[in-house]
Amino acid sequence: MAIVGCGGFIGSHLLKAVLQRTCWRVFAVDLESYRIQQHLADPRVEFYCGDLANPSVVQRIAQFPVVVNLAAICVPSRYMSEAATVIRSNYDHPARLADACAKSGSWLIHFSTSEIYGKTAADSGLLEEDSADLVFGSVAASRWSYATAKLLAERYMAGLTNLQWTVVRPFNFVGPYMDFMPGVDGEGIPRVLANFSTALVRGEPIKLVNGGLARRTFTSVHDAIDFIFCIFENPAAAKGQAFNVGNPDNEISIAELARIMTEIYADVKHIPVEEIPGAQIVDGVEYYGVGYEDSLRRMPSVEKAERLVGFKASTPLREVLRESLTWFAEHYSTSDCLEKLAE
Ligand code: UGA
Repeated sequence: MAIVGCGGFIGSHLLKAVLQRTCWRVFAVDLESYRIQQHLADPRVEFYCGDLANPSVVQRIAQFPVVVNLAAICVPSRYMSEAATVIRSNYDHPARLADACAKSGSWLIHFSTSEIYGKTAADSGLLEEDSADLVFGSVAASRWSYATAKLLAERYMAGLTNLQWTVVRPFNFVGPYMDFMPGVDGEGIPRVLANFSTALVRGEPIKLVNGGLARRTFTSVHDAIDFIFCIFENPAAAKGQAFNVGNPDNEISIAELARIMTEIYADVKHIPVEEIPGAQIVDGVEYYGVGYEDSLRRMPSVEKAERLVGFKASTPLREVLRESLTWFAEHYSTSDCLEKLAE
C-alpha cells in the first residue's frame, strides 16, 4: 500500500499500526519523517521524500493497490494568509492523484474534513454524510478556502468514472504527535490540542478564541486508526462512500476543553492547578487574521460507519487528553527542544 502524508500526525499512527497488524509493504511519502524515524529501517517500509506536486511521484503511488491520502495543509491559521497554496494542496494535488488511481485501478482512501459541513451554527444538529446542506462564509472570509477545496476534491472523486474511492471526514482527531510546538518543530499556530498543550508546557496563558464558545467532538487518533482497519476489512461496503469519523460522546466547548486540559496537566506534572496561568480571551480576527470565521458546532452522525463497516469510537475524552498531555510534556522537555526554545 501507499500512505501519502505518512510522516504526519495521523500517518505516523497508521504506519505503526500497519506494521504491527499486517504483513504489507508500505510506500511512505512525505516531506518530513521525524515522527516515523523509528520505522524507516524496517525492510517493509520504503520512504520517499516528496509530495503530490511531483507528477512522477503521483504515478508511482498509483501503482499500489491501496492508496491512503493524508497529505494536506490543515491548520486554520494558514487558511487566510496562504489561501491559494491551501487550495492547491487540498484540491489540485488530490485531484491529480485521483486521476492516476482511476487509471491504474487503485483504491483511493482520501482524507477530507469535517469542515466540509461549513459554517455550522451553535444550534445545528447531527451532520449526516449524505443529506446535510452545506453553508459557507463569503469568498472574503478566506477561512473557508480549505473547506471549499476539500469539498470540491470530494465532488471530483465521486464524479470520476472508474475511480474506486472512499472519503473519510475526521472530526477533530487528537493524540500524541499532533501538529507541532511553535519554535521547536514548526512555526505558526497549531490546532487547539497542540496550541493548548504548548501554552501549558511553557507556563503561558491558554488563548480562548472568541471566548471559547465553539464546540467540537474530539476523537482519539487510536479510534481513527481502528476505523481505517474497519474499511480495509470491508472494502465492498466502504467503496463509493463518505464517512464521518467522530465521537459524539466527546462533545465539549473549547473553554471547557481549556479547563479540563489545565486540570489534567496539573495532575500529570504534580503541581497545584492554581500555579497554572488562567486562560485569556482573544479576538479570532486579531489572532488568526482577516477572513477568520468559525463553525460553532460539529456533531457527527456516526450511524453510517457503524452500519456499513462496524465502527464506533469508544475512547473517552479525558483518557486521550491525559495520554496526549503526558506525551507532550515528555516529548518537548528533551534537551534538544529546550535548546531550540532558548535560541
Ligand atoms: C481544523 C481544520 O480546519 C479541520 O480541517 C480539521 O478537520 C479539524 O481541525 C480537525 O482537527 O479535525 P478546527 O476544529 O476549527 O478545524 O481547528 P482548531 O484550530 O483545532 O480549532 C478548534 C476550535 O478551538 C476553534 O473554535 C478555534 O477558534 C479554537 N481555538 C484554537 C482556540 O480557542 N484557541 C487556540 O489556541 C486554538
